[in-house]
Parts: sequence; structure tokens; C-alpha cells
Amino acid sequence: MKTPNISKEEIINAFQFRHACKEFDATKKLTDEDINFILQLANLSPSSFGFEPWHFIVVQDKELREALKPASWGAPVKLDTASHFILGLTMKAPMTKWGSDHTKRMMKEIRKMPDDMLAAYSKFHKEFLESDFNLDTDKKLFDWASKQCYIALANMMTGAAMNGIDSCPIEGFHQQKVDQLLQEKFDVDTSLYGLSYMVAFGNRKAAPSKAKNRRDLSEIVTWK
Ligand SMILES: Cc1cc2nc3c(=O)[nH]c(=O)nc-3n(C[C@H](O)[C@H](O)[C@H](O)COP(=O)(O)O)c2cc1C
Repeated sequence: MKTPNISKEEIINAFQFRHACKEFDATKKLTDEDINFILQLANLSPSSFGFEPWHFIVVQDKELREALKPASWGAPVKLDTASHFILGLTMKAPMTKWGSDHTKRMMKEIRKMPDDMLAAYSKFHKEFLESDFNLDTDKKLFDWASKQCYIALANMMTGAAMNGIDSCPIEGFHQQKVDQLLQEKFDVDTSLYGLSYMVAFGNRKAAPSKAKNRRDLSEIVTWK
């Protein structure tokens, strides 16, 4: 594998290019290669213990997009215009708690750990949950996994921008209502998965209405 050598200027340009795209050009569609590239960036994202506590639903069906609208105040224009629309699901406690089938499978089948390493890693996982991070409720476990799901979100959006593709992250939805839709229309077992975010991809209809404004680095960084 070669060491990447993308210039800092190019990278900063991509970060400036990325913005929360409010409306996409509905006539422009990403290719299968584009969307597979974006999903691959999610898949290559880091996760705690390498448990990959996420799942992504790409919603291309028009009726399903319509069904999401009443529960998603931040999304209607994106649902209408985005080339691809993704639901970022996070695993719930039954899948991420110590000793779950999922964590065992990840260690054994995916990460191919020999038995002795698996036992040590598993003990480490238990201690981490119980004492280091005190993840003693289902809600805390979900939030911990959800934070990781957001890393995949950032990677998808940034990587897309580096390839000239626009995006918009969306938390503008009603959790309970979307949960119900996930069960009824998307065949999701909501005892195992919850929605962390939605994210739309495509090409901007128009240039962003305002320039990026951020605080100065001196305000957000402390050097000691
Ligand atoms: C977690 C998260 C949720 C967001 N939810 C929405 C949303 O529901 N609808 C929307 O139009 N923008 C949403 N945004 C976009 C933010 O408003 C936007 O990122 C922020 O104002 C900074 O602007 P920029 O991304 O264009 O630099 C969300 C951003 C993040 C990170």
C-alpha cells in the first residue's frame, strides 16, 4: 500500500467544499461506483474494539422516502432531491454488550483472533464497559456505539467531498416516529438497532448561500 500524498491544500479545499447541502440537483445521479466508494469509507472507519456497531440503509425507493418525510422535518427537500439517501443505524445493547453474539463473531470470524487472544480481548472489553467507561445502562451503550457511527458519517462526507460529491447530515427527525417506521416499513428490528442520523448525497443545485464561518483556531484550541 502506498503512503498517501494528497496535498494539505487539496485536503483543506475539500473541507471548504463540503457544506450542509440544502438542496441537490435532482437531475444529477451518483454512479454505483460513487456510492460504493462512499459506503466503503464507512466500512473502513475505526470503531472501539473493532466491533463496527453500525448498519446503513440506502433508501432509493420513492415511497419509502415519502414515508420518512412526516417524521423528518430536517429532510424533506433532501429526500426529494438527493441522489442517494442513507440511514445511519447504530447497534443497541443486545449486540454490543459483553459476550453478545455480535462481539463474539467479530472477534472470531471477522478479526480471526486465536482463542487465547479472543479470551484476553473479551476480558479487556468487559473491564472497559464496566469500569473504564461505566457503560452500565442500555442507553449509555447505545450512545457509546452511536458516537462511533458518527465517525463513519464524517468519513463518508469528507471522502465524498474529496471526490467532488456533496452531502448533508440530518438529525432533524423525531426518534420515536422514525423508530416506528423502521419497524413497519424497513424491516428493522428496533430492539437491535436505532437510528443515529440520516445523510444525503448528490450534487448541489446551487452554490452555498453563505461562506463558511468558523471561530478562530485560537478560541477552540488550548496549548499547554
Ligand atoms: C449531527 C448533525 C446534524 C445535522 N442536522 C441537520 C439537519 O437535520 N438538517 C440540515 O439541513 N442540516 C443539518 N446539519 C447541518 C449543520 O447545520 C451544518 O453542518 C452546520 O451549520 C455547519 O455548516 P456547514 O456544514 O455547511 O459547514 C447537521 C449537522 C450535523 C453535524
